[in-house]
Amino acid sequence: MCGIYAGVTNHSITTHLIDGLNALSYRGYDSAGIALISKQGLERRRAKGKLDNLTGLLKQTPLEGKVGIAHTRWATHGKPECRNAHPHMTLEVAVAHNGIIENYAELRKELEACGFGFESETDSETIPLLITCYLHKGMTQCEAIQNTLARLEGSFAIVALFDNCPDQLFAARQGSPLVIGHSDAGFYLSSDENALIDKSDAICHMQDGDLARITHNRLIITDFEGNIRKRVMTPSYAISEEQGKQGYRHYMLKEIYQQPAVIQQTLDHYLQEDGTLHPDLKSLPMESLCRLSIVACGTSSYAGVVAKYWMEEIAGLPVDIDIASEYRYRNTPYPPQQMALFISQSGETADTLAALRHASKGGQQTLSLVNVTNSSMASESDRMLPLLAGQEIGVASTKAFTAQLATLLLLTLVTARSNRQITQLQLQQHLNTLNTVPRLMDDLLNQTDTIRNTAQQLYRSEHATYLGRGIAYPLALEGALKLKEISYIHAQAYPAGELKHGPIALIDERMPVIIIAPPGPLFSKTLSNLREVHARGGNIILLSNQAGIDQAADFTDTAIVMPEMDALIQPLLYTLPLQLLAYYVALYKGTDIDQPRNLAKSVTVE
Ligand code: F6R
Repeated sequence: MCGIYAGVTNHSITTHLIDGLNALSYRGYDSAGIALISKQGLERRRAKGKLDNLTGLLKQTPLEGKVGIAHTRWATHGKPECRNAHPHMTLEVAVAHNGIIENYAELRKELEACGFGFESETDSETIPLLITCYLHKGMTQCEAIQNTLARLEGSFAIVALFDNCPDQLFAARQGSPLVIGHSDAGFYLSSDENALIDKSDAICHMQDGDLARITHNRLIITDFEGNIRKRVMTPSYAISEEQGKQGYRHYMLKEIYQQPAVIQQTLDHYLQEDGTLHPDLKSLPMESLCRLSIVACGTSSYAGVVAKYWMEEIAGLPVDIDIASEYRYRNTPYPPQQMALFISQSGETADTLAALRHASKGGQQTLSLVNVTNSSMASESDRMLPLLAGQEIGVASTKAFTAQLATLLLLTLVTARSNRQITQLQLQQHLNTLNTVPRLMDDLLNQTDTIRNTAQQLYRSEHATYLGRGIAYPLALEGALKLKEISYIHAQAYPAGELKHGPIALIDERMPVIIIAPPGPLFSKTLSNLREVHARGGNIILLSNQAGIDQAADFTDTAIVMPEMDALIQPLLYTLPLQLLAYYVALYKGTDIDQPRNLAKSVTVE
């Protein structure tokens, strides 16, 4: 999604702005630009596509200055074109904006009536034009910004640079993250704390309604009316070693291979040395609940579907699972003994955040599982359980998904124990089983030959179908999502039993069908579905243990043999070959694996 980077320093800033944009690039973008105060005054450069295009432009027509703003844009209003790229500017002011100005159509009409012409199709351009309109009425820069902020509806993080105020930056936040970093050289700002890591000793997260006025040695934060707000700079603890591929060809591959360590960290955090569970888990009021309502988007929602199977079967707690963009606009009844659980890697996904606010407003107790623990969801929910995945850079989520699964399984076990669905001894046995996951994951990740060979057969396909029953169904959903995201192959996922109700019409010899069939009570049912696919010529790729592979040998084209394991942890392990399959298919196709087209790491718009 869009990213802001800016700085007001005592040194030349251009390369720092480009470094900042590079650090933001993992979020996904389709154009980029910078504006700064050079000797000639306010100037900008913008380019469509990758950052190399912008740096190439800067080589041809360099820009130098000590104060500047920069932006990576992920298109919402208007195509990914240079004229829609930020910063947007007039002769007086340049602005970079994240978020959406909901009343932009009305503002645009008003500005056009006053004689202002628009260069772009964006909602963002209304901001510099509105500021300029107020400057033309004789207001100071600060007054013009304040009056503009008062007119904006929607969510925004804004940085603004004025032509005749060359040593200052203005920044404002309402609903979209903005962080200020400080060092001896001055101040840097970004919408993503990770982009500030190597430039700042201390940071401050701006809050909604904050307006900052910054020179290289002074920071003043007020509300939008100008009343001083006290904000404290805290030491920056963000960990920079997450940056860099550390020998892996892609971040996605590195993150797939980090999963054993991530699960170990999760267990180390939630299981204390004396064998008891972390107080954050134990103190949750799970025994008082009549229902759990899980809300999330994309991969995080599939983790929620897995949790539904676990919670209902192991803990006896009924669970609803909702896609956040649907949930937020439904009139959902909120029974008092229901808890709403929000799952999110970023903690900033606009739909999930809005759903959380919707539930809070409805009086629901809210719990969030988030990987970014200083995110909006973390601070706005009643309770929060951190995911211990570390920073995830690959746009396609991998380690955050298995971290979500491990945390949700722990939550299930705590609930089952407090509901007296399992004994203390059974709890201990389940925890022991969970402790075997990192080793099993390590073993699996060391045997990828079959998956690479399968990917080689698959990468020329135009479609793929994923099937699973029971708890393997959400894994089919996640496997199909991974494949389509990074390889652009159309993939559909179905509960295996649903196949005959329509999708079976698509099965022929050109349709690869990936069937996830772990051993267990549903294996024989899935085997029947596998035979239905075989009878119609489908090209079957089966994931099961050796016994399952043997039983289906006559009908299977490719077998991915999974190790023996307790049924409890199957979702954590069966996910890995699906991630690797998608990865290698994309590698053979030559797509942009870490930054697939049209996708953003953190979807902060509706
Ligand atoms: C898929 C993927 C997305 C996210 C979704 C929710 O690989 O990454 O589907 O899972 O956008 O994002 P978070 O978890 O940040 O709320």
